[in-house]
Amino acid sequence: MEKILTLIEKDLKRLELAIDTLNETKVKVITNIIDHIIKSGGKRIRPILLILTSKLCGYKGKRHIKYAAVIEFIHTATLLHDDVIDNAQLRRGSSTANILWGNQASVLVGDFLYSKSFELMSKEGNMDIIKTVSNATTILSEGEILELIKTSDTNLTEEEYFEIINKKTAILFSAACEIGGILGDISKAKIRRLSDYGKYLGIAFQLVDDLLDYVGEKDTFGKQVGTDLKEGKVTLPLIYTLKHASEKDSSLIKENLYKREITSKDFKTVKNIVEKYGGFQYTHNVTKIYIEKARKCLEGFGPSNYKDALLSLTDMMLTRKV
Ligand code: FPP
Ligand code: MG
Repeated sequence: MEKILTLIEKDLKRLELAIDTLNETKVKVITNIIDHIIKSGGKRIRPILLILTSKLCGYKGKRHIKYAAVIEFIHTATLLHDDVIDNAQLRRGSSTANILWGNQASVLVGDFLYSKSFELMSKEGNMDIIKTVSNATTILSEGEILELIKTSDTNLTEEEYFEIINKKTAILFSAACEIGGILGDISKAKIRRLSDYGKYLGIAFQLVDDLLDYVGEKDTFGKQVGTDLKEGKVTLPLIYTLKHASEKDSSLIKENLYKREITSKDFKTVKNIVEKYGGFQYTHNVTKIYIEKARKCLEGFGPSNYKDALLSLTDMMLTRKV
């Protein structure tokens, strides 16, 4: 990661400045909430992707910074909303905005960031980018709703799960990379490859996220582990295990998934069952497949430091603990 951060060091500094100035408002509570979540050590993966892909395509202007900030704003808006929906307590190692300011304020500040993003994009006036982002946010909302209605559905198939993560997570990764391509003014076919790269990387990101929700360390992950089980979210490690487990083990999983409150003993019980049937190993193996797919999408691009950085991001995805 250090190498990537050095490669685009100046742009990342400009990004932080843009984040600070573009969301200005006289309503103090909005600034406080945005500062709380945006400055709490997010990985900035989506803006980094936008910056790297624009540079990969030879873009020499300054607009990528503004769009990178917009993508981070939209991501932040979704996190504010998502933490209300999930009733989350901890994000990036700090109490969530919903815990500190309440659900109403969190949702409204999410709305503010979301509208601000479209305001900024409309000022720029690039219709292709507006289309990409508006399509992404519509799909994102669909994904989140789909996930909501599938809560505690132990019949959820792997196909349905992939539809959810594709929509709720991969689409914004994909949009970020697509914007890089649009700015670089490359061919439609090449933009498509960048957008696919983002999609596969985004899927891998969510797969690892769902894995870390079981096997991660709270202090490094920055989020509580075990929340998916507690919230009744059926993710790949569980889908795989439910398909292969004995009647008795399946029932034990289901019983805990339906509970509103789970103890750390309940969590361990489920975790051990998933481990026993290889659900974590399977999720890891599937992640590797998506990482490989992502890498393949970059094959048509000539060698450059930016390409190397995008490739190394795929490896980091696989080993991330945060
Ligand atoms: C995180 O998933 C959630 C998302 C990536 C998408 C959230 C989307 C919305 C709330 C919909 C629409 C909002 C706008 C502004 C368009 P997770 O709960 O698995 O991850 P986590 O563990 O980080 O919370
Ligand atoms: Mg969540």
